Amino acid sequence: MSAPSAGQPIIILKEGTERSRGRDARGNNLLAARIVAQAIKTSLGPKGMDKMLVDSFGDVTITNDGATMLKEMDVQHPAAKMMVEISKTQDDEVGDGTTSVVVLAGELIGKAEELMSKQIHPTVVIDGYRQAQDEALKVLDQIAITVDPEDRSMLKRVAMTTMASKLVSSHSDFLGDIAVDAILQIAEESDGGWAVDLDMVKMEKKPGGSMTDTELIRGLIIDKEVVHADMPKLVRDAKIALLNAAMEIEKTEFDSKIQIETPEEMQAYLDQEEQMLRDMVTKVKDAGITVLLCQKGIDDMVQHFLAREGILAARRLKKSDIEALAKATGASVVTSVDELSSEDAGFAAVVEERKIGDDKMIFVEGCDNPKAVGLLIRGGTERIVDEAERSLHDALSVIKDVVEEPKVVAGGGAPEVEVARQLRDFAERLTGRERLAVAAFAEALEVIPVTLAENAGMDPIDALAEMQSKHAEGGVWYGVNGLDGVVSDMAELDVYEPVSVKVQALKSATEAATMLLKIDDVIAASRMEAPPGPPGGGMGGMGGMGGMGGMPPGMPPM
Ligand SMILES: Nc1ncnc2c1ncn2[C@@H]1O[C@H](COP(=O)(O)OP(=O)(O)OP(=O)(O)O)[C@@H](O)[C@H]1O
Ligand SMILES: [Mg+2]
Repeated sequence: MSAPSAGQPIIILKEGTERSRGRDARGNNLLAARIVAQAIKTSLGPKGMDKMLVDSFGDVTITNDGATMLKEMDVQHPAAKMMVEISKTQDDEVGDGTTSVVVLAGELIGKAEELMSKQIHPTVVIDGYRQAQDEALKVLDQIAITVDPEDRSMLKRVAMTTMASKLVSSHSDFLGDIAVDAILQIAEESDGGWAVDLDMVKMEKKPGGSMTDTELIRGLIIDKEVVHADMPKLVRDAKIALLNAAMEIEKTEFDSKIQIETPEEMQAYLDQEEQMLRDMVTKVKDAGITVLLCQKGIDDMVQHFLAREGILAARRLKKSDIEALAKATGASVVTSVDELSSEDAGFAAVVEERKIGDDKMIFVEGCDNPKAVGLLIRGGTERIVDEAERSLHDALSVIKDVVEEPKVVAGGGAPEVEVARQLRDFAERLTGRERLAVAAFAEALEVIPVTLAENAGMDPIDALAEMQSKHAEGGVWYGVNGLDGVVSDMAELDVYEPVSVKVQALKSATEAATMLLKIDDVIAASRMEAPPGPPGGGMGGMGGMGGMGGMPPGMPPM
């Protein structure tokens, strides 16, 4: 960037830096964000479509999950990336609503652009949006239904609503029960309420069988085999040792030579080695260990000796598995065999190797701490189990949301229509120009029911009009019955969602929209890895949209 000063340009920014200002900068950002929202709109709701994404290595993902779609799309434009981020935040905070939040943010931006084209200043829009958000949160709180956090049937309904829009929807009844069982097992009482640590649910996937073979294990599943054929495959009342060291003879780090001159010396050397390995096994045995789970390798000879002692062992476990096992069984992780003692051991009622499909896995059940569960996910193909895992994650998350904050709203766009209606009343009472922004905010909320109607093949304008008139008569839960393609009372249909999902979506979408509205200057340094194209250049800048054929991040320019 340069500015003429007495004939001499003053260079302020580095060569190659691009800058766009004012309307241009804002326009490009808003366009990019809206394009992202547009791209995932068709996947909202029970009749929403799935997307197939192919990454630059040719790996295929099929999903309906907003956060996953956006992550795999490998979006490049900075404003578009913000949409990816809000979707990820939604996923981290509440686990569901990752499509809705982006669709909503896109619509808020669209409505803001309309206002700005009528010469309303962005700061007025921002103020109006903030007021509208506060009011909307109040309305949501008023209409939300308080439920019993231990009411299984309500928890299951919430889980089933979440899975209604996924590939697994036909099994949502079966999977809903499993998800509720899992969460109720790990929920812990904490100052008057409940707390759920989702890390205590460990999911393992094995393609093969059918989705209905998916099972809940009251313990942990480890995707490893027992190392030696002669070891027991089942140990009851197991004393478990967790070892973060190799059961091998360490190689020296420096080059060394041993001069062996006679066969006797050779034999003595081998005997010595064998003795060291035997000593390791003796240590394990003396500590009373019956199951040895090792994060590193186990020497063949050690395996043989362990088998002779009737000890079950597995090697090269994942660090995360070792950590989960430590929590579940009460064992402490030992970093050297020499330090192993019986106090370090953990306990489980059963440790067993079972055959799952063509593979073998180790099941650790009846642990000391019952607040750890495993979910073994089965299904036709790898892509199906992958998507089933994502859907179960959503289901577990919404159950957790309700257990922790026991308030729900009905779905199908009903809460959005109701909040919009009350926001319009609120706007009527305002005097400044902000009222226009509040009204625009209300209209933007209706994108959810409108999109649900569109995706269900209904006429969106008729559907919205019908819902609005029902709401005006006091039918708070009238929304789009996506499956039958009519407007119905969603509470009667048992379509419920956690209120926290709606609250988070409202907050994140408003935040993202107002943040983008505030930007009037984009200064982009010339980028090494980006393909040529103007930064901040709307579509042009979204080089990675679609993710196909794009370069993986961090690759040098070709
Ligand atoms: N049976 C149903 N009839 C009508 N609408 C439904 C039904 N079940 C769910 N919905 C609605 O579908 C919407 C959720 O759709 P979807 O699960 O595809 O997106 P999301 O939750 O925003 O994002 P994601 O699940 O990808 O994180 C919610 O508004 C919900 O109320
Ligand atoms: Mg969902």
